[in-house]
Order: sequence, then structure tokens, then C-alpha cells
Amino acid sequence: MDESSPDRFAEAMARFSAYWNEARAGDTWEPDAMTLATATLDGRVSARVVLLKQAGAAGFVFYTNYESRKGRELAANPYAALCFFWPRLRCQVRVEGRVERLPEADSDAYFAGRERLAQLGAWASKQSQPLESPEELEQRVTELDAQAERVFASSSIPRPAHWGGYRLVAEAIEFWMPGQGRLNRRELYRRNAGGEWEYLYLNP
Ligand SMILES: Cc1cc2nc3c(=O)[nH]c(=O)nc-3n(C[C@H](O)[C@H](O)[C@H](O)COP(=O)(O)O)c2cc1C
Repeated sequence: MDESSPDRFAEAMARFSAYWNEARAGDTWEPDAMTLATATLDGRVSARVVLLKQAGAAGFVFYTNYESRKGRELAANPYAALCFFWPRLRCQVRVEGRVERLPEADSDAYFAGRERLAQLGAWASKQSQPLESPEELEQRVTELDAQAERVFASSSIPRPAHWGGYRLVAEAIEFWMPGQGRLNRRELYRRNAGGEWEYLYLNP
């Protein structure tokens, strides 16, 4: 990149952060919510909402169960898409890229800061597997809570190996804003084959 050309990736991330901060400043329920789409190797797609915990040069970070449906799909096919819709800001942001697991130390640090009930839930919930009844899960949590010191030989709850963070390393980030008469505006930042980030408009 020559000195006069703007750093398009930095620009896209700065725009993303401005929206995210504004969403968080309002009274929106779950301003960190984003739709995460994953796919199996044979092209069956699934989508669900997860919470964005961090966004920066290293990627878009979320936490989940590695053995969940999304975890299994990401293990087979690490490409995924995120979609944010903040109605109050009249904005949609789409992000696409490759997903990788966070270093274990990062997941440990995040897990250690979670409330105890959420920590116990991460052990007790076999995410995406059939469950006899909601009471069954509550009972597993209650039992684990009572036995935690013995089971973990510690007063704190360690992170289960099946639970942790992922980061989506963006290859494309698109901002959508409404325009008059549906002449909406779409601005795409994407990494081209040469690894440079470019900026273009798309037809709405
Ligand atoms: C607002 C909201 C936030 C959520 N945040 C998370 C999250 O951060 N991590 C997570 O694993 N599931 C989260 N969920 C639950 C997921 O949508 C989903 O039910 C779960 O992860 C299982 O998905 P899977 O079976 O496709 O793996 C959230 C759901 C909602 C509605």
C-alpha cells in the first residue's frame, strides 16, 4: 500500500466500532447480538444468534460450545458469515471470513470472568443435543454446584475443554444503509486475491 492510499480494513473496522458503540449506548436489548451462519461441507446452512464479545484487527470474537451444531460445522468447514441488524441505527453489517478457535489462554481468561451459574451451565449443557426436560438440566446444574469443590478439587470452576471462543477473521465487511425509494446504499470492503483491502459500492 502506498502512503496516500487509505487503509481500507482499518476504515471498515472503525466504522463497525462506531455502529457497535452507538448500539450499545442505546436501550436496545442485546446490542451485541449477531446472526452467525455456518454450513456443512455438503452445503447445508444453519444460522443462530450469538453475542459478539470483541471486534478488532484479530477478528470478531464469540464464545460457545465446541461440540454444538455450530462447533461441529465449523470443525468441518471453517467459513462462516455474521449479520448484524441494528434497527434503531437503520443499519445492517455483514461480515464473512474464516473462523478459528481462540488460544486456550484467552478462553480460560474469559471463562474465569463469567458468573458461576454460567460456568456450571457450560459443564452441564450438552449444547444442541436432545434434552429429556428443562428440569433435567436444572438438576444437573444443582448437583454439580453442590459437588463442585470435590469434582474440580478447587473452589473455582475451570473451563471445560468443550467450551471456548472463536474468532472470525474477516475477508469482507459490508455496510447497508437505507436510501429514499429503496435506493439503499451498500458499501463493501473486501480483501482481494493479492491480500489488499479494497472498497466498492454495490447495487442495492
Ligand atoms: C440474544 C441471544 C444471544 C445468544 N448468545 C449465544 C452465545 O453467545 N453463545 C452461544 O453458544 N449461544 C448463544 N445463543 C443461543 C444460540 O442462538 C443457539 O441456540 C445455541 O448456540 C445452539 O446453536 P447450535 O445448535 O446451532 O450450535 C444466544 C441466543 C440469543 C437469542
